[in-house]
Amino acid sequence: QSQTTVISIKETTTSPIINKNIYGHFAEHLGRSIYGGFFVGDTSKIPNTNGVRNDIIKALKELKIPNLRWPGGCFADTYHWKDGIGPKENRPTIVNQWWGGVTEDNSFGTHDFLNMCELLGAEPYLSGNVGSGTVQELSDWVQYANFKGKSPMSDLRTKNGRTEPWKVNFWGIGNEAWGCGGNMTADYYANEYRKYATFMPNDIVRIASGANSDNYNWTETLMKNIPANMLGGLALHHYSVIDWNKKGDGVDFTEDQYFATMKEALKMEELVTKHSAIMDKYDPNKKIDLVVDEWGGWYDVEKGTNPGFLFQQNTMRDAVLAGATLNIFNNHADRVRMANLAQCVNVLQAVILTDKAKMITTPTYHVMKMYNVHQDATLLNLNFSAPNYTYRGESLPAVSASASKDKSGKVHISIVNIDSKNKNKIEIDVNNLGVKNFTGTILNASKLQDFNSFDTPNKIVPTAFKGFENKKGKLEITIPPFSVLVLEGK
Ligand code: AHR
Repeated sequence: QSQTTVISIKETTTSPIINKNIYGHFAEHLGRSIYGGFFVGDTSKIPNTNGVRNDIIKALKELKIPNLRWPGGCFADTYHWKDGIGPKENRPTIVNQWWGGVTEDNSFGTHDFLNMCELLGAEPYLSGNVGSGTVQELSDWVQYANFKGKSPMSDLRTKNGRTEPWKVNFWGIGNEAWGCGGNMTADYYANEYRKYATFMPNDIVRIASGANSDNYNWTETLMKNIPANMLGGLALHHYSVIDWNKKGDGVDFTEDQYFATMKEALKMEELVTKHSAIMDKYDPNKKIDLVVDEWGGWYDVEKGTNPGFLFQQNTMRDAVLAGATLNIFNNHADRVRMANLAQCVNVLQAVILTDKAKMITTPTYHVMKMYNVHQDATLLNLNFSAPNYTYRGESLPAVSASASKDKSGKVHISIVNIDSKNKNKIEIDVNNLGVKNFTGTILNASKLQDFNSFDTPNKIVPTAFKGFENKKGKLEITIPPFSVLVLEGK
């Protein structure tokens, strides 16, 4: 592209903080996410802490993982938390009806998860069972995790080896209540939600199961029927899927499929805009969070793997998808205050893949790491009109960007070139931001289909970016096709 995209950047006094929880993750009992992923058991030869792999803990800490959602997903509405506490040898088994029909032994339960979150320095986000659970069961779970004084559940917790409560702040009340969580109507679920929330304390963030993509009626019904003081957050799920019956290969894809994936990913802009507008009608002061607690690319499982385990590789397509989506969340930080990439380890758009003792980080991991500079920074206003990425007569915006200023005064600008073929020229005047010296980090590859394998784990890693000039506070940038760039000014 020969045209230059001029981005104007402005600091305003009313700008929101980009909540670090936008950079959250998700770990479901699904495939090799927990068992054979995070959790190898404390008798494993793989170095671990209480059964959780040390290499995964290290990698996620380096990512600054802010929160982790567990135990599902669809699994959450089948999960009975009391089966996962106490001596492991006494725990009953559970059949994972949604994911491969496998039987698990409940050896990874509440203590394992919450202690792991402490190791990670991440806030836990527990997803409660509404579909096949009871109000009593969920309210007991809250008491078990959070109650400090004497109570039946805190006594049980102490008996199981933990005296101090964990203080879990984020609680989901069901998952995909319109689908695997019980196939409820919005009206019916709103009533169920009210009932469950009544028996949970007010000092935690209660999050309602939200809409599937563009089901705006779901959001409207919940916002209308749930009293604001009972609702801390409202969820939204959107996956970038080309066609649910023919999702396409995670690695071996055409430009057609890349374009279609990115079209679905960029739809997130419209989704958060429209769901936010509905929320604004009922909650003009924006007290209730929009929580995009499942997002990411979803392809056919890797050949030869269990179809119920949702294992897929992760290419530069996923890196571009992640960078563009996170820019959308940043730019909507006034309402989007939490999001969870699906999923963290070995499932869907994972940041970490494992193969026995080996562990690798994916291109998506590197994007999340490059972008963690935005966590809890103040959003800067960007104004620009993106050039087109045109493919077979259809167009998408080729450039996605967001920017923030952190507490130490550093400015970060994240830019994605979505165009699969053309580089883009960008100009940004950074004169009024109180920073002078810029450096850049880029993630790119020679092919969109490139990925990190267990044999070549560092094929795609961030490198220093030299493709820009700082001409007296005017940055002139040339960003290569399908790449993700973060500039830092100090
Ligand atoms: O992330 C995989 C599944 O996708 C989750 O279990 C469910 O909530 C969604 O449909």
